[in-house]
Amino acid sequence: MTATVPGRALGTPLARVEGPDKVTGAARYAAEYPVGNAAHAWVVRSPVARGRLRDVEVDPTLDGVLAVLWHGNAPELAKPADPELWVLQTDAISYRGQVIALVVAETLEAARHAAQSVVLDIEEEPHDVVLRADHPELYTPDKVNPGFPAESAQGDAEAALAAAEVTVDVTYTTPALHNNPMEPHATIAVWDGDDDLTLYDSNQGPHMVAPDVAKALGLDPARVRVVAEHVGGGFGSKGSARPNAVLAAIAAKVTGRPVKLALPRQALFTMVGYRTPTIQRVRLGAAKDGTLTAITHDAVSQSSRLFEFAEQTAVVTRHMYAAAHRRTGHRLVRLDMPTPRWMRAPGEAPGMVALECAMDELAHALGIDPIELRVRNEPDAEPESGEPFTSRHYVRCLREGAERFGWAGRDPRPARRRDGEWWVGTGVAGATYPAMAQPSTAAATALPDGRVEVRIAATDIGTGARTVLTQIAADALGLPVTDVTVRIGDTRLPRASVAGGSSGTASWGWAIDGACRQLRERGMTGEVVFDSTELVKARGNDGRHAFGAHFAEVRVNAVTGEVRVPRLFGMYAAGRILNPRTARSQFIGGMTMGLGMALHEEGVLDPHTGDWVNHDLADYHIPAHADVRDIDAAWIDEQDDQLNPMGSKGIGEIGIVGSPAAILNAVWHATGVRIRDLPARMDRIL
Ligand code: MOS
Repeated sequence: MTATVPGRALGTPLARVEGPDKVTGAARYAAEYPVGNAAHAWVVRSPVARGRLRDVEVDPTLDGVLAVLWHGNAPELAKPADPELWVLQTDAISYRGQVIALVVAETLEAARHAAQSVVLDIEEEPHDVVLRADHPELYTPDKVNPGFPAESAQGDAEAALAAAEVTVDVTYTTPALHNNPMEPHATIAVWDGDDDLTLYDSNQGPHMVAPDVAKALGLDPARVRVVAEHVGGGFGSKGSARPNAVLAAIAAKVTGRPVKLALPRQALFTMVGYRTPTIQRVRLGAAKDGTLTAITHDAVSQSSRLFEFAEQTAVVTRHMYAAAHRRTGHRLVRLDMPTPRWMRAPGEAPGMVALECAMDELAHALGIDPIELRVRNEPDAEPESGEPFTSRHYVRCLREGAERFGWAGRDPRPARRRDGEWWVGTGVAGATYPAMAQPSTAAATALPDGRVEVRIAATDIGTGARTVLTQIAADALGLPVTDVTVRIGDTRLPRASVAGGSSGTASWGWAIDGACRQLRERGMTGEVVFDSTELVKARGNDGRHAFGAHFAEVRVNAVTGEVRVPRLFGMYAAGRILNPRTARSQFIGGMTMGLGMALHEEGVLDPHTGDWVNHDLADYHIPAHADVRDIDAAWIDEQDDQLNPMGSKGIGEIGIVGSPAAILNAVWHATGVRIRDLPARMDRIL
């Protein structure tokens, strides 16, 4: 670890403290813990979208099979809040790809072979898997994730639209998108007697997993230990216990052996959540000078038969632009499909595509520069609640981003620039993400040699959280970072909130800062345990957002229709940047996922089977290195003392909010073709 000046680690580009462990292979991921005598499990997933499982038969002559579990023989579970964790309990099949049996065997190969050769007796029923804006079963949910009202309205949007000098009325659709962390969801379950269970599990919060698994198994949550020391990505899909954790636990119970279960890549497309497809209608009404008079945003999305997950697609529109008359709403339909869940900026990412592309369409209709249009509609306070912003530097991001990107002098007309076979264009879109903090507890212990150990059950899902937390602790203690060790990723450590909602650093850092300051105040002796709950609750999360602006240059091949993105730039105002190296990595990581969303990624549904036909990394195209050219992020140093002791805002998700719209707006500028159905495939451009 690079040494830093004592008390001055924050703001420096400290390299990942666990980097050497990761590159030398010493860092252990969930499925890599060396447990003796482990058996291996493989999932059997439903080949139909709806039906009844009558029987499961396995060839008794197969070698090495220890158990084949299904609802006919699996241990009885209590019902946890999440019905997806109530595995192997019922004959009802709710979606194709649902786990309906589990094979446990001596080796991975034996388990896989047996799983592939089981004979399933299924009574198939007709299924309904296609999301449509006119689906007869659409309804308005009570709330949308994570607790917002499903609808909002002010003034009379219909009358204002009818009276507006210029209007835009557009429908954008976004496809199902799939979380593909490098490390799949995986669990090793080890029992010690009947009441103590240890799970080495890949997740975004050990304390999110333990209670749900305990509930299902009828255990005292304090006796379920969950270890997640290193996590190879999650993007939201590991934010709560997934079926693999419960499956491994019951398999270990039944066989009396530790059991290792790593989900194969294809299973991730159905078993761990995905981003719902959306159908979004946005209407904008404006005066000729660009002043917005009306905004409406209506979103349609899907959930499963098992569980209502209502994504907050239109919520982002409540925060962006001033307009006296406005309405947002969400409608949902429960289909015979897997349950959608969190995927990086759930709601904001698809919602911002529709809003920011519609703004680009309005700018063109008005003959006003798209940056200028946004600046003219900058609100003084939260557009709907009227709450003051603690800090909002959206306009500065647009202006300074434009300066750095080289926006000035842009010819606004589409399809005017050609370089050989390539049409060339540029586009812009806004970015925002809420700045949240959640209660957490940290412990700081003075060690005899003068060093300090900090403990908190946080997780580092690849973001660099462990490193930034080390910097926060070191500065609060007045020590060099080399004198601080931060231990994370274990329910035996003090309770911490989820690595989600871009809230990890603010939440865990707040608790660590408190523990370390108190340890310093008492002369660096003994141990301090600090619970941030009261402070976090007193401050609340209202009116707090990070903002940004994304800029893209694209080249579209006139012969093939392929889109290249030679430049992608994000300018952010996200509070104090605690580590410029890991922050830049978060920003451009989000932007890269945004590039995938704009151009490549889509779950292609086969309505006959109810499955995505492209359920692996060969066919589901996430951006590869060759797709990502000159990508960069910069930021305004934003001071906001209303946030948390570090003055930071979340940065993990904002990079995917608006970056797809910037690319799509650039595609239009290059070609004159509006892509309103994502992604911008070649066949849609030509
Ligand atoms: Mo993120 S979708 O909040 O883990």
